[in-house]
Amino acid sequence: MPHRPWILGCIDCERRYAAEEVRYRCECGATLEVRHDWTTRRALLDLGPSVFDQRRLSREAIDRSGVWRFRELVLPLAGSEVITKPEGNTNLYCSDRLAAYTGSAGLSLKHEGENPTGSFKDRGMTVAISVACALGFARVACASTGNTSASMAAYAAQAGIEAYVFIPEGKIAYGKLAQSLAYGARTIQIEGDFDLAMKLVEEVCRADSIYLVNSLNPYRIEGQKAIGLELLQDLGWRLPDWIVLPGGNLGNSSALLKGLFELREIGWLDRLPRVAVIQAAGANPLYTAFHNRTTLQPLAQAETLATAIKIGNPVSWKKSLRGLLATHGLVEQVSDQEILDAKAQVDAAGIGAEPASCATVAGVRKLIASGTIRPDERVCGILTGHLLKDPDLTIAYHQSTALGVTSNFANPPVRAEASLAGVRRWLRR
Ligand code: F0G
Repeated sequence: MPHRPWILGCIDCERRYAAEEVRYRCECGATLEVRHDWTTRRALLDLGPSVFDQRRLSREAIDRSGVWRFRELVLPLAGSEVITKPEGNTNLYCSDRLAAYTGSAGLSLKHEGENPTGSFKDRGMTVAISVACALGFARVACASTGNTSASMAAYAAQAGIEAYVFIPEGKIAYGKLAQSLAYGARTIQIEGDFDLAMKLVEEVCRADSIYLVNSLNPYRIEGQKAIGLELLQDLGWRLPDWIVLPGGNLGNSSALLKGLFELREIGWLDRLPRVAVIQAAGANPLYTAFHNRTTLQPLAQAETLATAIKIGNPVSWKKSLRGLLATHGLVEQVSDQEILDAKAQVDAAGIGAEPASCATVAGVRKLIASGTIRPDERVCGILTGHLLKDPDLTIAYHQSTALGVTSNFANPPVRAEASLAGVRRWLRR
């Protein structure tokens, strides 16, 4: 790789590493982050956000991408190095139904399920796969609860490199498994949970010179930051009061917070919105650490029907927790019942999202009910994945067969006799 205007810095100690070095962790074991030299981009950044607004009108993929449009803030690779679909450009929805359900009159939802592979992971993945190729790797790998692997598989296929997926056997949603297989990734089902698959893939990548593209990889975080950049752009660069998102491995919240801090560092923001991370109650190690003001204690066994966030030992907990504490942010937890009822409402509003995404809406509802968020505050929630990612759980809910939850808003299919009279009898019911 040619010389780059950034370095990798440890989040815990003073050690720094050159951008050209292949590293995911510091020698001390802590995670790394990309540190930018803004002076190399000062002239452009001094022009303010209008530069990025103009790029929205361009026909070039690199400008149309909701990640690379912000390349001077994300990662200044050369255009020829970028592997993009392009991604981003996701919609921001308002819904009277969801305003009434949550009690948040100013709620809008950015639907990251509208990315090319149906989840927010494409934003980080376009950067990680571009860097993998720039570093000369022909093989990439990740552990996943399904969305990271779907995204990696698609971008690796586009780049013409091999992809290896490590998934917890029988524990990921079918739509996601289908994507991994269809895009041609070698898919390895591990007898164990996500946390075990994560540990294993890190070992395999180190032993076998395969590039690791989990959010442990600091470049994934740089791309993921663009979620916040595009959200602010959608809002005309005016800050909301709150940004609310689900938390699993905690890459997304770490990235969002890093992006916001950097906007303040370069002088574009003088205050920051409050960020609320919502965890499933059965997979809540950040919630516990936040409320007890302790280091994170991994869960031996995470349990939630929202399989995307069924994670007991999140890799990026320290980055996320530090950012939340520094911004007056918070962590809330919601039950599977709350998640699936919120999902039924998001779906019935005509928006639709996968279960983990709807922890966001369940969380907003709970935070309004407790008085933490005021009904008149401007709240932006992130929906992280597409409705079709997990059709099995959606159908189970509407048929009242989802384990351990009551289907409060069920819309089950009905049977009617195959005749005009039979159907009309049913319609009149
Ligand atoms: N929502 C969805 C739909 C996800 O797929 C994930 C994570 C999250 C929320 C949580 O985001 O990990 O950045 O805190 N999915 C990962 C995966 C773990 O492998 O696809 P996070």
